[in-house]
Order: sequence, then C-alpha cells, then structure tokens
Amino acid sequence: MAKITASVYTSHVPAIGAALDLGKSDEPYWQAVFKGYEFSKQWMKDNRPDVVFLVYNDHATAFSLEMIPTFAIGTAAQFTPADEGWGPRPVPLVIGHPELAAHIAQSVIQDDFDLTIVNKMDVDHGLTVPLSLMCGQPDEWPCPVIPFAVNVVQYPVPSGRRCFNLGKAIRRAVESYDEDLNVHIWGTGGMSHQLQGPRAGLINREFDNAFLDRLIADPAELSTMPHIDYVREAGSEGIELVMWLIARGAMADVNGGKAPAVKHRFYHVPASNTAVGHLILENAR
Ligand code: DHB
Ligand code: FE
Repeated sequence: MAKITASVYTSHVPAIGAALDLGKSDEPYWQAVFKGYEFSKQWMKDNRPDVVFLVYNDHATAFSLEMIPTFAIGTAAQFTPADEGWGPRPVPLVIGHPELAAHIAQSVIQDDFDLTIVNKMDVDHGLTVPLSLMCGQPDEWPCPVIPFAVNVVQYPVPSGRRCFNLGKAIRRAVESYDEDLNVHIWGTGGMSHQLQGPRAGLINREFDNAFLDRLIADPAELSTMPHIDYVREAGSEGIELVMWLIARGAMADVNGGKAPAVKHRFYHVPASNTAVGHLILENAR
C-alpha cells in the first residue's frame, strides 16, 4: 500500500526562485533564507519520496481570473513551469503521477470533496519555488509530483476546517492505493505577508510562530480559525496558510495514529515581502 510518511510546510516567494535562477543565492540576504533549507535538502536525499503530493496555489497563472476552481488536482504526465512575465523559470519539467492522481481523484470525490480534474496545466512559483527550496537545482526533480491547486486568490476561499478534512480524505485515498509508494504531502504558501493596499509589507512574527506551534500541537483546533483572523493577523496573502492544514490533516496523529516527529523548524524575516516559515513532520514508523 502507498503510505504518507511525512509532511513538509514551506513558504513560496517568487524572488527566492529568481535569486537561485540568477545566481544570487550567495548574497548574505539570501544566504540567511537558504541556510534554513540545508537540513531539508539533505533530509530529502535521506528520505527520498516516491511521489510528492504538493498542495499549492496558482497565482492567476494557469487558471486566470476567468475560471477559478476551489480545489484542482493535476492528473497529467507532466507540467511545464509557467511564464509569469519574465519567461519560464529554468527549472526541470515537473513529472506527474497520473495513476496515483486519478486514484486520489476518484477516492476523494467519492468521499464528498468535489475536485476539478486538470489534465493540462502550467505550474507557477507556488509549486516550483518549494521544489527549489527542498531539492536545490538538480537536472531533474527527484520524484514525480502531483500538483494540487487551492484557490486562495479570489474570495470565497475554502475554510481551514474544509482543508483539514480534505487532508484526511487524501490520506484515505493514498492509503488505499495498491502499490508500495512512499508519499510526502507538502503544504505551501504563507506565512504572513500582504502585497497590496495600505498594509502592504505587513509581517506578524508572533502570529506566525503561534501558527507553527498550533499546527504541530493542535491542528484540529487551528482548523477552526476563521478567515478574518488570517487576514487581520497575517495580511491579505497570509490566507495562503490555510493550505498547510491540508497537509497536516493527512498526518497519522489526526487519523488515530501517533504524533509526528518535528524533524525541522525554521522561521526567517525578511524574504521579499514575506515571512518564511518551514516545518518537516515525520510520521512514526
Ligand atoms: C511575494 C509573495 C507571494 O506569496 C507571492 O505569490 C508573490 C510575491 C513576495 O513576498 O514578494
Ligand atoms: Fe503567493
């Protein structure tokens, strides 16, 4: 059977991708960010997944504002890095896992979560920057990736509770797949940031660190936090954090198992306009 062995949480910031792609990662400003991922890159090598289920948000790149699915699963064989205005990032093509993705789609949809099935999709910094942070700059990504896009761009966005319960359904789906696969689930985006309006530049270290504490210790309680609290405390783009609850809902402890081990925790300000947060949680073996 396939198994979810770990979850990874990380911010995405387009400027991080640009720093890597343009050879600026040695600059002290960026070194302070990348230092937090040294452990993670080694951990990825030591705990190489067969598949990453990568929860992220599209930034009006693949879907535009003409068509906005709340939850969309990428079932294609491959996904091309998107052109976000400066040309596509020079990173490897993202190889999908159509069989597992189709299985998850059928399982989760039969489990009452209505997903949009996407057979062709370009992937933006929301997906490629977390891959770069966790894997560095390889010639190819270490494993297939199932992109799972969540609408956090245009209101109404899904509630924390819906995301948390969806994570549980994704766990049931993965664990009913009849092949021994080591699956990691990633929740990405956040932490506090606001890119627009009078509060542009907002960062809230206290909220972010409390969010990390609560995500680890009591995600069910955290999942009841209303949107207005994310937006007030973490800024308009801080709402990206609801996606972390999908990954957290797929962990063993909230499905009758043991508490995960916190393998790594990192928090850093600033990176562009965003507070960078990062966690690695491993299920007990
Ligand atoms: C930034 C952060 C984001 O999440 C994003 O999608 C775009 C820009 C930033 O910090 O600049
Ligand atoms: Fe974003």
